[in-house]
Amino acid sequence: MRRKLAAGNWKMNGTAADLSELQALSHMHAAPAVDILICPPATLIHRAKEKVPGGNIQIGGQDCHAANSGAHTGDISAQMLVDAGASAVILGHSERREDHGEQNEDVRAKSIAAMNGGLKAIICVGESLEQREAANTLDIIGGQMSGSIPDQATGENLIVAYEPIWAIGTGKVPTLDEIGQVHDFIRARLERRFGEGVGRSVRLLYGGSVKPSNAAEIFAVSNVDGALVGGASLKADDFSGIIQALEKA
Ligand code: PGA
Repeated sequence: MRRKLAAGNWKMNGTAADLSELQALSHMHAAPAVDILICPPATLIHRAKEKVPGGNIQIGGQDCHAANSGAHTGDISAQMLVDAGASAVILGHSERREDHGEQNEDVRAKSIAAMNGGLKAIICVGESLEQREAANTLDIIGGQMSGSIPDQATGENLIVAYEPIWAIGTGKVPTLDEIGQVHDFIRARLERRFGEGVGRSVRLLYGGSVKPSNAAEIFAVSNVDGALVGGASLKADDFSGIIQALEKA
């Protein structure tokens, strides 16, 4: 059985004052029936971790460098994330691919560093609107998976997030059939590449405009094991609604 996961990506939002939201969330979900992960900006990881000493909420990063250390101004290594208290890291988010020109090979190298460092790698894949309209979605997702996911992936160290770029922060969501088609495709590909055991144990998240109001129907779709949530993870009340929907799914 795959344990469900509600992951929040705060992106470049949040200062110390916002940790009150994390604390509130922690009080609301002292003994959750699903895994809960919050990925705040790197500056808050250590302080966020201190707010959730019980381990009911895990803390993650939003990116890491492929090297452990060295002359890379402004970058953060997997080792540093672990040291700060992170247990997971989001890699290859479309905003990283877009803002920093990250290619599949970069995402793969970062994922290897993350996995070697003991972090769970949440590898993001997803098509643009243009690609979806050209009916290229599955080709794009397949290519991103082959290029970004390293050979050492297991059900423990890999989580795949399907995030259609056009659904991120837009309020637009694919139909449930479209989500199911992509998630079934990702599952089948993982099983083919890594074998049924590993392929079936990797958790698959949907991301893109998930809200308390649409979470339940998305979580009922086959092979959706949780969500990667941006905007609605910033406020404890909103994210709690999503967590509760996942607990009931
Ligand atoms: P959103 O972002 O929930 O604000 O659409 C999702 C994401 O980018 O992970």
